[in-house]
Amino acid sequence: MGWRSPRLPLLLLLVRLVSASDFKICAYNVEKFDSAKASDSRVLHIVKRIVSRCDVCLLQNVLDSGAIRTLLVSLNRDTGRYDNYSYRSVSSESLGNSPVDMQHYVFIYRVENVNMTGQHQYLQKNTFVRPPFAVQFQSNKIAIGRFVLVPLHSDPGQAVQEIDRLYDVFKEVSKKWNNTNVMFLGDFHASCAYVTRANRKNIRLYSNYTFHWLIRDKVDTTISPDTNCAFDRIVVHGKSFMKAVIPFSANVFNYVKVFKLPTSKALEVSSSLPVEVTLKGSALPLQATPLLILISVSAIVQSFLSAL
Ligand SMILES: *[C@@H]1O[C@H](CO)[C@@H](O)[C@H](O)[C@H]1NC(C)=O
Ligand SMILES: *[C@@H]1O[C@H](CO)[C@@H](O)[C@H](O)[C@H]1NC(C)=O
Ligand SMILES: *[C@@H]1O[C@H](CO)[C@@H](O)[C@H](O)[C@H]1NC(C)=O
Ligand SMILES: *[C@@H]1O[C@H](CO)[C@@H](O)[C@H](O)[C@H]1NC(C)=O
Repeated sequence: MGWRSPRLPLLLLLVRLVSASDFKICAYNVEKFDSAKASDSRVLHIVKRIVSRCDVCLLQNVLDSGAIRTLLVSLNRDTGRYDNYSYRSVSSESLGNSPVDMQHYVFIYRVENVNMTGQHQYLQKNTFVRPPFAVQFQSNKIAIGRFVLVPLHSDPGQAVQEIDRLYDVFKEVSKKWNNTNVMFLGDFHASCAYVTRANRKNIRLYSNYTFHWLIRDKVDTTISPDTNCAFDRIVVHGKSFMKAVIPFSANVFNYVKVFKLPTSKALEVSSSLPVEVTLKGSALPLQATPLLILISVSAIVQSFLSAL
């Protein structure tokens, strides 16, 4: 009888309010993603399942716009089957030093949950092989409201210098948009031989503690059993952005396990795993969360007691 307690529907509603509005940001290096790769239906299906978990997903290592067109058609065609969102993309120009290795940064986002409100290509010469293409987003569904994403797929040979220079990008974009809610994300190669512990003193994103590294050094963002490196990272600037992040939500998404794929099939898509983080929804003021937990716990206890 206790489960008919009037508190239970209220409890379920509250739980839904908290979880339904969580907002996921992801970053994925889809190694050499071009039209030919996107035309492989098995690869496309895996990429689609990864992207459709996210409110905003950064794809790195995209070689042509045809691949993204194919992915978007596929994502939007499935509306109603996986989810009911429409997806749109914003892409950088083709970036790189060598005509045989030019790549785009592409953000794919859910139109219903977030607006793209600005884009900015970092242009300082001789600083990055693929200079960050910053995008500002706005969403009334999340506590933080307005935030800037700065992608980096670093050149492994100069990862230390490039990660360090993200600080200069931070200064530029935070000034441009009067917004210090900045998140850096992507395959930084920030581990193993490319970035050692001793290198860190030369990286301002490490030495300045206003930047928070959400993906820890122990995380393995590679698929191969032979490598154990935290190459892909998410870093946020400032206290207010940290408060808007769900604690411990930043992690690698091991789709090889979740989708139960053989390693060899997963490696056909990429050797990297996606990383992701969840932001708090705006459904409730952040301060209300502990109170809500208290109410929920007491509602559960009371339902049990009245069931006895
Ligand atoms: C999408 O919306 C349709 C119609 O409103 C509904 O029948 C379907 O269950 C929804 N799909 C998902 C995955 O939420
Ligand atoms: C996107 O912007 C429009 C126009 O300003 C606004 O009405 C809408 O609520 C915004 N969407 C989100 C998810 O914040
Ligand atoms: C910049 O943002 C701060 C805090 O959000 C605000 O107080 C200030 O008025 C803004 N400045 C400009 C020039 O918009
Ligand atoms: C750390 O970065 C912040 C930007 O948030 C800046 O204001 C501050 O001066 C930096 N601190 C040092 C020691 O460079």
